[in-house]
This record gives sequence, C-alpha cells and structure tokens, in this order.
Amino acid sequence: MSTNTVDNARKVTTRRLIEMKQRGEKISMLTAYDYSSARIIDEAGIDVILVGDSASNVMAGNVTTLPVTLDQMIYHGKSVMKAVKRALVIVDLPFGTYQGNSKEALASAIRIMKESHAEAVKLEGGAEIRESIERILCAGIPVCGHLGLTPQSINKFGTYAVRAREEAEAAKLVADARMLEEIGCFAIVIEKVPADLAARVAGEVSIPIIGIGAGGGCDGQVLVMHDMLGINRGFSPRFLRRYADLAGVMDAAVKQYVADVKSGDFPNDSEQY
Ligand code: KIV
Repeated sequence: MSTNTVDNARKVTTRRLIEMKQRGEKISMLTAYDYSSARIIDEAGIDVILVGDSASNVMAGNVTTLPVTLDQMIYHGKSVMKAVKRALVIVDLPFGTYQGNSKEALASAIRIMKESHAEAVKLEGGAEIRESIERILCAGIPVCGHLGLTPQSINKFGTYAVRAREEAEAAKLVADARMLEEIGCFAIVIEKVPADLAARVAGEVSIPIIGIGAGGGCDGQVLVMHDMLGINRGFSPRFLRRYADLAGVMDAAVKQYVADVKSGDFPNDSEQY
C-alpha cells in the first residue's frame, strides 16, 4: 500500500482540516442526507460531508430551509453516519433550534451528537449567536460557523443575491470570522460573497474557510450534492459547476423501464425464477 493510499484511508478530523489549511491542501466538502449517497461520496474520497439543512429543499421539496426540524436533521444525520468511514460529518442545526437562547442551542446540539453520532454541528450567524456557539463549544462539541448568505435568514434578506458587497456588511463579516476563530470554531462556511472578501478572510484567520460561491481563494469548497450531480435541474447559479446530468440519466432509464414493462420485454427468461 502506498503512503498516499494510507493517508487517504485515514479518518478526517477537525484537527486534520486545520493541518490541511496549514499545508495549503484544499478541502473538499459535499452535502449528503442518506445512507446510499453518503457511502458513494465517502468512498470517492470527499473530505467532509455536510448533512445540510438544504435537506429541506432537495429532500423534502420545501421552498426554504426553514421548515426542516431537529428530528428530521437527526434522521438524515443518522443515515449518513451509518455509511461514512473516512469523511468528517457535520450536521446543521436547523432554524429555530439555537437562536432563542444558548441553553436551547446546547440541548439541540447534544441531541444531534447523541442521536445521529455526527462529529460536529454547523450554525448560521456571527456575533448575534456568540453565546450559543460558546456554550456548545464548552460541551466539547466542534462547531463550524456559517457567514455571508445565511439561508435561514432569507426572509430578512429578501433575496439570495451576493452578500457583503457593501463595506459595512463586509467589515461585519470579517469581524464575525475573527470572533468565530477566537472562540474556537474549527472552520467557517462562507456563502455567496465577493471572491476577494472571502480570500481576505481566509488569509486573516487560521481556521479553514470553506466557500460556496465565494471564489477560489478559500481553503476549500462545498456544493450541494443534488446541484453538482445535476439532480436538481432548476437551480443554476453562476458559482455552480455541474459534474453530471443525473436527472437526464434517470429520466432515460425510467423511460426505458416503462417501455420494457409495457412491451413485455422485462423481465426476460434470465430475469425470472
Ligand atoms: O445546508 C446546506 O447545504 C449548506 C451549504 C449550502 C453550505 O449550508
């Protein structure tokens, strides 16, 4: 076995992500919400799997991430954890389970860790939720921050457009990132902000910055699996690179199956007992 193979088989931890940043090795992250997909992307070598609250959109068909519940996130997290051997698994704390007060935030994070067996949680926001993040960190639960476009605040923003183009919002983002680093978060997702701002933050903090629509200066990249595999055809923002057309593959396969059943071609003699 080559050294490279051994390294690739080694479990990814929060500490290892920080070492990757120090070495200048980019971090790959994708979302997953179920056992079968998580197994495929883990075996393909992804570094981090995010059980994102985007499950609300791509799994449940909701328009926003707001409706997904803690029980549903635990269900998805548990399914993913059963499949994953190498990647670090992070589960999103859903809307309404951590903004109220820090005790509630800790109780939500503990439920995720205990019931899904995930290895870290992600929360959206900066200074406003500092107390909640600190309390979760004090319990020994690793926290990934999320700044920039935070989809749980879509009703406040009123748009999914690029965030922090204005100086005041950019300055707050930089201050929030520094604060998240200082209190002990192991990484920060930065979503849909100008590339030079995300690169500046990545240069100023020692923890990995994982970008989505935040340019190539980040320490790693994250995409929603359904978007990059072309399962979710209706969503094509500029930042998205499609690596497959699974919707097309599925459509053709299902049409062929329907035709084969109708014509009596399926099952044939070798496909029956
Ligand atoms: O829920 C999610 O999928 C996310 C990514 C967009 C980073 O938070």
